[in-house]
Amino acid sequence: MSKAKVFVTRIIPEPGMQTVRDAVDATVWPEDLPPPRETVLDGVRGCDGILSLLTTPIDQEVMDAAGSQLKVVSNYAVGFDNVDTDTATARNIPVGHTPDVLTDTTADFAFTLLMAAARRVTEGSRYVLEGKWQTWGPSLLLGQDITGATLGIVGFGRIGKGMAHRASGFDMDILFADDWVAADDPVAVAMGARKVDLDTLLTESDFVSVHTPLTPETTHLFDAAAFARMKSTAILINTARGPLVNPDDLHAALKSGDILYAALDVTEPEPLPLDSPLLELDNIIVVPHIASASVTTRARMSEIAAANLLAGLEGRRLPHCANPEVYG
Ligand code: DGY
Repeated sequence: MSKAKVFVTRIIPEPGMQTVRDAVDATVWPEDLPPPRETVLDGVRGCDGILSLLTTPIDQEVMDAAGSQLKVVSNYAVGFDNVDTDTATARNIPVGHTPDVLTDTTADFAFTLLMAAARRVTEGSRYVLEGKWQTWGPSLLLGQDITGATLGIVGFGRIGKGMAHRASGFDMDILFADDWVAADDPVAVAMGARKVDLDTLLTESDFVSVHTPLTPETTHLFDAAAFARMKSTAILINTARGPLVNPDDLHAALKSGDILYAALDVTEPEPLPLDSPLLELDNIIVVPHIASASVTTRARMSEIAAANLLAGLEGRRLPHCANPEVYG
């Protein structure tokens, strides 16, 4: 029997990559940068499955180009805003994603950014590298305290809860805003996290960490109006998706002192161009979308992406399905 045909939009880590190569007839885009659109449209033609990365949109045109035999889209990420799940669902195509295995790694990194911004770690490093360090100074690079401060978590899903867990170790007061999570959620209760509306969270928090999915409703959730509500000493951390934050409004807020600092793992656009005005500011940390980037986590993500792909090709329920409606 001939093997199923699959287009893989970029090499993923082992062991998932080998599992896929062994099990299917895989065409793998070999370059470091994502494939051009035309290559994707060509590559998916006649495929039974697509293994995608978050850098490649899998929309209606791509699914049309693949053809009606397309059985599964497996996305190598927990987020799946690059996949048009409405179209996939309408065509009964399950979409796989990779939750759980990256929760701790991502929450670790969000907390790393929180601490690095609060204590101005990257500024301190630049200061030394630029030869400015002449003596100990009582007012040199003063930062914000973390212990006892208030952390507002926007989106209290797996990673938001992971952030609360870490914050509880620093005796932080924890607020969360999430329409889908009840005030008496067991994790919220265990962490002493208080459910509030977004306005209250923005007004009361010293740190605001974003962990909500990107949807049309959450796009530019953080805009000029949101920044105006925040404390002038507030620090924004975004490890979710770049377009949750309006970059122009963030630049204005950081420059005018509406908020104190931002630490971004994700930006709009990605990559952030070197001439972005955000990169001219001192009160910002920008890193290249690496919150889940640990050796172990990326390997586990590859196993799940492969398992989702093979399940879809064999007509089995995906272990981690982003659009479970396809199963009725
Ligand atoms: C995801 O999985 O959605 C992250 O952004 C990358 O790991």
